[in-house]
Amino acid sequence: MPMQDMSMQDMSGTTAVVTGASRGFGRAIAAALSAAGASVVGVARSGGPLQDLRAELGGSFTPVIADAADPVIAGQLIDTYHPRTLVLNAGAAPLSRPIHHHTWQTFSRNWDVDVQHVFHWTREALLRPLEEGSAVIAVSSGAALRGSPLSGGYAGAKATVRFLAAYAAAESERRSLGIRFTALLPTLTPATDLGAAAVAAYAHRQGSDVRTYAESLGAPLTPEQVGKTIVDLAANPDLSQEAYLLGSSGLAAVG
Ligand SMILES: NC(=O)c1ccc[n+]([C@@H]2O[C@H](COP(=O)([O-])OP(=O)(O)OC[C@H]3O[C@@H](n4cnc5c(N)ncnc54)[C@H](OP(=O)(O)O)[C@@H]3O)[C@@H](O)[C@H]2O)c1
Repeated sequence: MPMQDMSMQDMSGTTAVVTGASRGFGRAIAAALSAAGASVVGVARSGGPLQDLRAELGGSFTPVIADAADPVIAGQLIDTYHPRTLVLNAGAAPLSRPIHHHTWQTFSRNWDVDVQHVFHWTREALLRPLEEGSAVIAVSSGAALRGSPLSGGYAGAKATVRFLAAYAAAESERRSLGIRFTALLPTLTPATDLGAAAVAAYAHRQGSDVRTYAESLGAPLTPEQVGKTIVDLAANPDLSQEAYLLGSSGLAAVG
């Protein structure tokens, strides 16, 4: 599915909240939303990178140093900013090991962070509710479709993120709230810290060097592509499927 030219998207006068904005996809998403004219509130635990992003994007970017999985933060930020666009991108880097080398605590890390934060923010978005025409985009993963055997509970957690977006979309529809809930499933890319660690683990498992394994995955999805896609999903109500797979060649609806 071709993406619209970003210059077509004007999000001026709207506010977006992005979780996990300090690096990787979230940083690029915040930059793309800002370039489209939105005021952006970026949430992450690392203050330094958030301040760097503030220096880059200027006063339209508000850094919030917080744990995105904290339900109080979700409620406070939704009540304060009434975002038109909510991007639930924060995610823990899974421990890259075969299943029997996980403990329950390491296995369940992505449930505690990724799933828990999508649960709290989605709930708050429905309860408030956000304004009609708002968009909530939850970042799942292509691993939700295929599994990820070296990542503990990651793939199952990301499948649940997708389910949560679909359940919320159904509630929005039932109550005629006009809030779009979408899950975005990016494919694995070595272009971020989290993706690079996974690529290195799978390369090691196959006895391959990292570069050869990364090349076998094809052209890598870039954080900038993810940022542009999020702007498209937020600004274009015609992109109304509940879930989309995103690779370097573009978006595809997931049935
Ligand atoms: N890269 C890939 O190949 C890939 C593929 C599919 C899906 N994804 C998903 O895309 C999302 C972004 O991943 P990425 O690759 O950009 O990873 P990344 O480079 O490791 O960035 C993760 C971001 O999440 C933030 N974060 C983690 N725990 C948090 C918490 N409790 N509260 C607030 N922020 C938190 C981190 O900031 P702090 O550490 O400063 O808090 C950081 O900004 C994740 O949900 C990931 O699962 C990635």
